[in-house]
Amino acid sequence: MNLLESLQANKRQIPEHYLTMNVTELEERAWAVKRKLGDRLFVPGHHYQKDEVIQFSDATGDSLQLAQVAAANRKAEFIVFCGVHFMAETADILTTNEQKVYLPDMRAGCSMADMADIHQTNRAWEALQAQFGDTIIPLTYVNSTAAIKAFVGEHGGATVTSSNAEKMVEWALTQKERLLFLPDQHLGRNTAYKLGIPLDSMAVWDPIQSSLQYEGDIEKVKVILWKGHCSVHENFTTKNIEQVRKQHPDMKIIVHPECSREVVALSDMAGSTNYIITEIEKATPGSSFAVGTEMNLVNRIMHQHPDKHIISLNPYMCACLTMNRIDLPHFVWCLESVEDGFESNRIVVEEGVAKLAKLALDRMLKI
Ligand code: 13P
Ligand code: SF4
Repeated sequence: MNLLESLQANKRQIPEHYLTMNVTELEERAWAVKRKLGDRLFVPGHHYQKDEVIQFSDATGDSLQLAQVAAANRKAEFIVFCGVHFMAETADILTTNEQKVYLPDMRAGCSMADMADIHQTNRAWEALQAQFGDTIIPLTYVNSTAAIKAFVGEHGGATVTSSNAEKMVEWALTQKERLLFLPDQHLGRNTAYKLGIPLDSMAVWDPIQSSLQYEGDIEKVKVILWKGHCSVHENFTTKNIEQVRKQHPDMKIIVHPECSREVVALSDMAGSTNYIITEIEKATPGSSFAVGTEMNLVNRIMHQHPDKHIISLNPYMCACLTMNRIDLPHFVWCLESVEDGFESNRIVVEEGVAKLAKLALDRMLKI
């Protein structure tokens, strides 16, 4: 089920009183459900979630860590996922049929995941097979729909996250001569470049035009990048870097690989959400960083490290709007609905899709 279908299937709206309730009551209600359900409830929270919900999470992590904890948890009957739609789908695929996954607000999608739909992917595959024959293995960033993961699983490929992308690209190129990387062109390009694949061996598939963008000897193409991006990370620019270098010459610039190649090239360090957190944690007191990633996380890192000087690489940066849809009122509504036996915010990946998508996820988790 894609995001639009799940929105249509879930007409139940948050009751008005949750939106007008004060924070103290909302927090008390959330703790009450957590106490009552105990181990029957599990709340994973992505690092980009707001503090108002992250305080209730049983595990926090980046996409890879949350996929791993979901796969390992066999105990919880109810998983209330504080993250976005594709993460909850992944949790549903990796848990047992008895475990139920919920997303507190069904509008919490991901604009990048929406940049590749299964019809576009089928069309691209047909055209690329006609161009290159059976020489391509597909890889998809976990930031993609379950249908795309199933496509990838069915064609021998795997999922990747920003913390294992290098390993996964290396593995893919031992399987086939070329790879198709969905849906984030920047993570694909940055990863392949870091592994020594030259930019002129990379082509871009444009799903809107249904065409391959490449100038040069087509036989040289090793990596086909899907023309998608993260609307949060693309807001970090080389101009931001110039500004920071001018104003804070000693500051280290650390960015997520969803930023463009130009931004990553001019930065001092680049890596997944978890990498950014760990590197800043490891740094000596007094160190300073300009961070190129989502704002809820950057604010949290600032508060956790008062001994370090931390700023956002882009001073006008906002939080990820869809991540932010999981707020305290929706979270409490979801918890109380779960407790009352309502299924309205449940994420269920259709069995056939889930089976194939699991192949792609399992290949990643094994590697
Ligand atoms: P990671 O959690 O893999 O760093 O991905 C970041 C992201 O954009 C999640 O939506
Ligand atoms: Fe999607 Fe980017 Fe938001 Fe992550 S930060 S959920 S990739 S839009």
